[in-house]
Amino acid sequence: QLADESVGLDQLLESPLHLAPEPSLPLPPDLYGPRRRNSHGLDLAVPAVRAQLEQAFAAASVPAIPGSAPEDVVPAVDRAVAAWPAWERRSAEDRALILRHAADAMEGELPRLCALLVKEGFKCWGDAVAEVREAVDFLRFYANEAERILQPATLPGPTGESNVLRLTGRGTWACISPWNFPLAIFTGQVAAALVTGNCVIAKPAEQTPGIAAEAVRLLHAAGVPHPVLQLLHGAGETVGAALVAEPRIAGVVFTGSTQVAKIIQRTLAAKDGPIVPLIAETGGINAMLVDSTALPEQVVDAVVQSAFRSAGQRCSALRLLVVHEAIADGVIRMLQGAAGELVAGDPSQWRTDVGPVIDGEAFANLQRHVRRLQAEAKPLLPESEPDEATRLLPPQAFEVAAVEQVRHEIFGPVLHVARWSGDPQAVIHAINRIGYGLTLGIQTRIDSRAEALAREARIGNVYVNRNMIGAVVGVQPFGGEGMSGTGPKAGGPNYLARFCAEQTVTINT
Ligand code: NAD
Ligand code: ALA
Repeated sequence: QLADESVGLDQLLESPLHLAPEPSLPLPPDLYGPRRRNSHGLDLAVPAVRAQLEQAFAAASVPAIPGSAPEDVVPAVDRAVAAWPAWERRSAEDRALILRHAADAMEGELPRLCALLVKEGFKCWGDAVAEVREAVDFLRFYANEAERILQPATLPGPTGESNVLRLTGRGTWACISPWNFPLAIFTGQVAAALVTGNCVIAKPAEQTPGIAAEAVRLLHAAGVPHPVLQLLHGAGETVGAALVAEPRIAGVVFTGSTQVAKIIQRTLAAKDGPIVPLIAETGGINAMLVDSTALPEQVVDAVVQSAFRSAGQRCSALRLLVVHEAIADGVIRMLQGAAGELVAGDPSQWRTDVGPVIDGEAFANLQRHVRRLQAEAKPLLPESEPDEATRLLPPQAFEVAAVEQVRHEIFGPVLHVARWSGDPQAVIHAINRIGYGLTLGIQTRIDSRAEALAREARIGNVYVNRNMIGAVVGVQPFGGEGMSGTGPKAGGPNYLARFCAEQTVTINT
């Protein structure tokens, strides 16, 4: 039990100084290697690399893709249902090979895909490269995982009987994905469902249809039959809702807001027939707890990365910094300096750190929230003119009176800061009570405290003495609990099994 914040020198010496991780490491040869970041062996400071990406950007155009109609759902499911038996009968190795071909093709088209992520998804270059990397990682990781878990297992039993457990596909999955990782999350969901022997009807976010269409093109070219993987575009409330409600849909994997996950859950529960599984990966109010032993420079670096990178449009992003009273003033001063260095602007420019938010609706919602905070909380960063035309919202930070004041996920570069003193476990309990459980940062130089706080937190991904974004496939399985999702974790060893049915065959020999 950690009583209070008074720390002796012996406790400080308990752990070495933790240095902030390198922001960019070269890609190791296998998926289980050490951490990688913005990898792909690309150094974005190299002029030739920049030139290649700029060339792709100049050539790329965002395709105009018409939306589907709710009436398109039934014929799509007809085609998938007819194609399923042949796809399910193919071996796991066969399907894994197709994913590996798609991964190679995606790597080969990295500059073009990055250019589209910048143009359609308003990603900065570093985020675009990291996203293509993540999509490629998902393809290769799930290919490896399928070969591992889809082998029938012979289980011990009484003499005279053989028992075999095997995993099979379930049928046709609906894969519904958000705009903020329009390639990586889209590809991860689809790859997992396909490689486990399911057909897929994918409904990507209406803001980013072109990127989804590219991923599907690459998967078809790699060998996925067209009826096995189909794409429907359009609004979630109409096309997405019709897809979820279709009686023959055998499972739904959804990444997006908690509110929409609950709508989908209700639709599935109301259907006649089979009980349909839902994998939901949703939002969060992610906090970072900083104690008085933390290194302020490291804290501020982690805060800036976690709260403002990708314009705060990551489900994992930091929303609530809870910093110990003893070092709060110093950390806030340093944060003001660091945030002041960030450049908000056109995402295709190399110097831009914070690009636009995704659309006018997101911009208006954020503006409303900022105006409320301006009335109710203490602004920590200079006010800047919001620019509706560019949808640029420079980083914002506000000091709030208590953790309890932050109740809703705010999806943009807006940070809330609260002070604490006393028992750090009480802070974790307050964070738990918010009800989300996606990511948590802990900054302390006392190892035993970090461990105790992490154990107490009802949070899916806990990051100690580093930033809290950019989970690496196969290395940092990602996903939350509570209002943040159902599990299993994407990019983890338990993910694929949830797309499968299980069958035990017992034979009296
Ligand atoms: P959203 O919930 O508005 O939409 C997500 C998808 O659901 C879109 O494709 C949308 O068209 C569809 N949709 C909307 N209403 C629907 C309905 N009634 N039936 C079926 N489909 C419907 O989310 P968003 O704005 O696209 O993405 C941002 C949200 O996603 C944030 O809350 C963020 O935290 C969350 N997110 C979570 C993770 C994670 O892994 N936990 C990752 C990325 C984003
Ligand atoms: N997987 C993404 C991250 O960790 C959402 O930031």
